[in-house]
Amino acid sequence: MHLLGSISELYGRHGSLYASISGGRNFSGQCVVLARELLRNRRGARFLELFAGPARHAAVLASEHGALCSAIDASPEMRRIAVETGAVPAARYHLARLPDLPPSQALAGPFDGMAILLYSVGYVTPADLIVLLRKLVPMLAPGGRLAFELHDLAMVRESFAHLAIREREIVVGPDERLHCIWPARPLRWQPDDWVVEMDVVVRRLVAGRVAEEHSFVSIERMYARSEIEALGLAIGGLRPISPDVDPVPFQGSVLALLERH
Ligand SMILES: C[S@@+](CC[C@H](N)C(=O)[O-])C[C@H]1O[C@@H](n2cnc3c(N)ncnc32)[C@H](O)[C@@H]1O
Repeated sequence: MHLLGSISELYGRHGSLYASISGGRNFSGQCVVLARELLRNRRGARFLELFAGPARHAAVLASEHGALCSAIDASPEMRRIAVETGAVPAARYHLARLPDLPPSQALAGPFDGMAILLYSVGYVTPADLIVLLRKLVPMLAPGGRLAFELHDLAMVRESFAHLAIREREIVVGPDERLHCIWPARPLRWQPDDWVVEMDVVVRRLVAGRVAEEHSFVSIERMYARSEIEALGLAIGGLRPISPDVDPVPFQGSVLALLERH
């Protein structure tokens, strides 16, 4: 099964478009939750963001919570953006196509916390997720935690009709806006798995006229929290944890937390 689809172009040669359209989240609020749930608010804690993209969470955890952050992503363009914006130092932003990992001596582990945010775990198959989790367990410090931001399945069931960020308009200049619709058309489900194809449309509007339009297809596996928790238990070394309080800044998503024991 091949996941990801042509959306890889949005993370690759159109990476700056992705950085703009994904920038409107409450990163500070989300990082308060991540710092508490993953790093126990300890300054100097080590954090690894997987499928990091522009690594905005790593940036905020470093600047506002004193974390020592590393990142992994498959896209050189995402790495370039993250490094240029100062989100993560070049030496700690690693290129790898997960579940492949950079050599462990290159990583600044063991990590107190790791996170896979904005539904990105959907870009790996369950078989690859097992491979990945097995590799991540020894990279976590004892008591270290791994967070997954997953889709709210109630929203998936209604084809994201009520997802607040389904349609986004971002002002990027005095006369320039980006318009993103994700998903732009009805979802296409595979008959034999929780794999869905979503059309994504990104338009750049200059003075109200469409100056550029891109269409992508994102192919993702939907994961339920119970499935992530079951995988963690099945591979051994990881147990499910409930967040301390409702993770409000992740509104519209579900958080799954696993802890190394
Ligand atoms: C939806 S974006 C999320 C980025 C970031 N976590 C955020 O919150 O904005 C998904 C990211 O996963 C990366 N990606 C997709 N498949 C990957 C893989 N197998 N290994 C590493 N990175 C991957 C893409 O390059 C992209 O940067």
